[in-house]
Amino acid sequence: MEDYLDWIYMGVMSAFVGGAMKKVLASHVSAAPTVVAWLGVTLLVERLWFFCVPAVLVLAALCLACCLYSVRTAPAPTLPVQGKAVFITGCDTGFGKAAARRLDAQGFEVFATVLDLCGEGAKELQKTCSPHLTLLQVDITQPQQVQQALLDTKAKLGLRGLWGLVNNAGVCVNFGDAELSLMSNYRGCMEVNFFGTLNVTKTFLPLLRQAKGRIVTISSPAGEQPFPCLAAYGASKAALNLFINTLRHEMEPWGVKVSTILPSSYKTGQSGNQEYWENQYKSLIHNLSTGLLEEYGEDYTHETKELFQHFAQSANEDLSPVINTISEALLSPRPLVRYYAGPGVGLMNFVYSYFPLSLSDKFLQRLFVQKKIIPRALRKENNNNNNINNNVEKIKK
Ligand SMILES: *[C@@H]1O[C@H](CO)[C@@H](O)[C@H](O)[C@H]1NC(C)=O
Ligand SMILES: *[C@@H]1O[C@H](CO)[C@@H](O)[C@H](O)[C@H]1NC(C)=O
Repeated sequence: MEDYLDWIYMGVMSAFVGGAMKKVLASHVSAAPTVVAWLGVTLLVERLWFFCVPAVLVLAALCLACCLYSVRTAPAPTLPVQGKAVFITGCDTGFGKAAARRLDAQGFEVFATVLDLCGEGAKELQKTCSPHLTLLQVDITQPQQVQQALLDTKAKLGLRGLWGLVNNAGVCVNFGDAELSLMSNYRGCMEVNFFGTLNVTKTFLPLLRQAKGRIVTISSPAGEQPFPCLAAYGASKAALNLFINTLRHEMEPWGVKVSTILPSSYKTGQSGNQEYWENQYKSLIHNLSTGLLEEYGEDYTHETKELFQHFAQSANEDLSPVINTISEALLSPRPLVRYYAGPGVGLMNFVYSYFPLSLSDKFLQRLFVQKKIIPRALRKENNNNNNINNNVEKIKK
């Protein structure tokens, strides 16, 4: 009888560990497979001892596990950089600027697009990079500018193809509850993050196919998981993810490899700028309908702003995990489909994949912006009902 139960126990555990392992491997989380593998091996060894399986067998199983593990994690040689050209969007600040510098230093021929050719970022790149770096002024929401960038790039490349496209340019126009986010916010995010990136990608695909090159897109975990207050930004990144993912398998026969990078929170762009947050907040309050502002309360929206500002200030400053990943995706002989780059983002994905929604929602709120103030209309149910009744009364009169 006991034997019977043990077999069931082992079957269930194996199914669980196997399933977890398969899912984790499919999402390309780097640390988790190790943990899951060890958990599985430990459990198996424990069970096998219990059944008094000869020690030789246990040792053999352990050796096999170790071999499999080392085969998987052996560092792959990288491709030569020599003669490879990459095109990076959004290099005024943040990941784009840092990636342009790094890839230039590695010996790539870099085409870096900036919004402002006379801006700080462009000047810094000009000063610190080799003469092989070409700066191009491109607003990716302007198809003529994208087209011009293609012509300029082709003029330099001659008959050569383009090895890499790094889709980095992106915006988060505003933040706030989905209901409080303006339509212009949703459209603004879609315009840059989705339609802009789409147009750039389509424009450069012929050159990328010619070189059997790489497309590396910086997306966001907010495009996979429902982060509070990031509906507009998240939805645009979700649309982008699906487009890129479809392109990935359609590009396989052409030899173009497509990767997406999901970074954790970093200090990039405007996020460290106090004035930026104030202006965002002012324009939100200014543009919200009075009815909504009444129901949510100004203190509620103010708290959201404070939380975001605080969160942005505590974001990571060292961009290197993301920059290393961009370089890896461009040079690895077998780049991954998805990279989680930076502290905590793999764990976040793990929780989202395996835990019930109620728990993963809480986890996201804890990790991100944890609101204390509830919308005004929900504060005192009774008061509120009275107000509504009063209003109805007034209307009747
Ligand atoms: C980019 O967008 C413009 C405007 O919608 C369009 O005319 C152009 O064909 C697009 N580029 C590509 C390669 O599809
Ligand atoms: C919101 O209000 C500001 C004024 O504070 C205005 O300049 C801006 O155009 C408005 N934005 C939208 C999206 O309506």
